[in-house]
Amino acid sequence: MSKITAILLAAGKGRRMKSDVQKQYMLLNGKPLIWYSLDTFEKSPVDEIILVVGPGEVEICRKNIVDAFGFKKVSQIVEGGEERYDSVYEGLKAAEDADYVLIHDGARPFVTEKIIADNIETAERERACATGMPVKDTIKMVDVDNYAIFTPTRDHVWLVQTPQTFEYPLIREGYEKLMEKREKEESEDDRFEVTDDAMIVERLMRTKVKLIRGSYENIKITTPEDLVTAQGFVEIQQG
Ligand code: CTP
Ligand code: MG
Repeated sequence: MSKITAILLAAGKGRRMKSDVQKQYMLLNGKPLIWYSLDTFEKSPVDEIILVVGPGEVEICRKNIVDAFGFKKVSQIVEGGEERYDSVYEGLKAAEDADYVLIHDGARPFVTEKIIADNIETAERERACATGMPVKDTIKMVDVDNYAIFTPTRDHVWLVQTPQTFEYPLIREGYEKLMEKREKEESEDDRFEVTDDAMIVERLMRTKVKLIRGSYENIKITTPEDLVTAQGFVEIQQG
């Protein structure tokens, strides 16, 4: 049997939320935002959850979230880093004995057990997969002066979400390569900007990543208006 580990990210500063309480701990219907994805992963087939939190927050998270709500699958709580990819790297180092890892943004409370199950099944077959949805709006590529230069067919343009799931050695090696590159880069200009985990596997491991459908509700809570949408989704779920 393969060991399946989820890395749940909650080490961001939530700058765009502009609130006093960090967004992962803001209350949504009486529960901290991070509770929602923890609860779904807890009920899913994953074997363990590694929670990545901000510097100095390990003990408070253990007490106020993991123990308080009785989450049993959280095997480790580790400190993240400055950028999202630093936090993922810390999670990966803590997941040493995993066969597959799902990497998920704690700021996406509406991940479902089906999305998690589909991720696991696809990663076992394809080695690497990412959750997403085809865009609803028309997307245009523009030149430096904002003149439209290309309008891709909507079916072929997806918004990318998490979880993203990989064979452990594949994503670990990808991240080792990224960290080596980071040490050699001299200026911000030659930086390879990392916005999701799949691109590390695509570019640095030259391995294809299969996109699978998540849902339009699987939003990332980023700015204050997202909380209004999230409140609406919670009310619908509770009927
Ligand atoms: N994240 C993390 N470590 C970081 C940065 C981000 O674990 N150094 C996590 C966040 O906690 C979040 C997810 O990555 O669950 C997606 O990041 P984002 O939505 O950008 O959250 P923040 O970085 O917290 O917000 P902002 O960019 O507005 O500051
Ligand atoms: Mg961020």
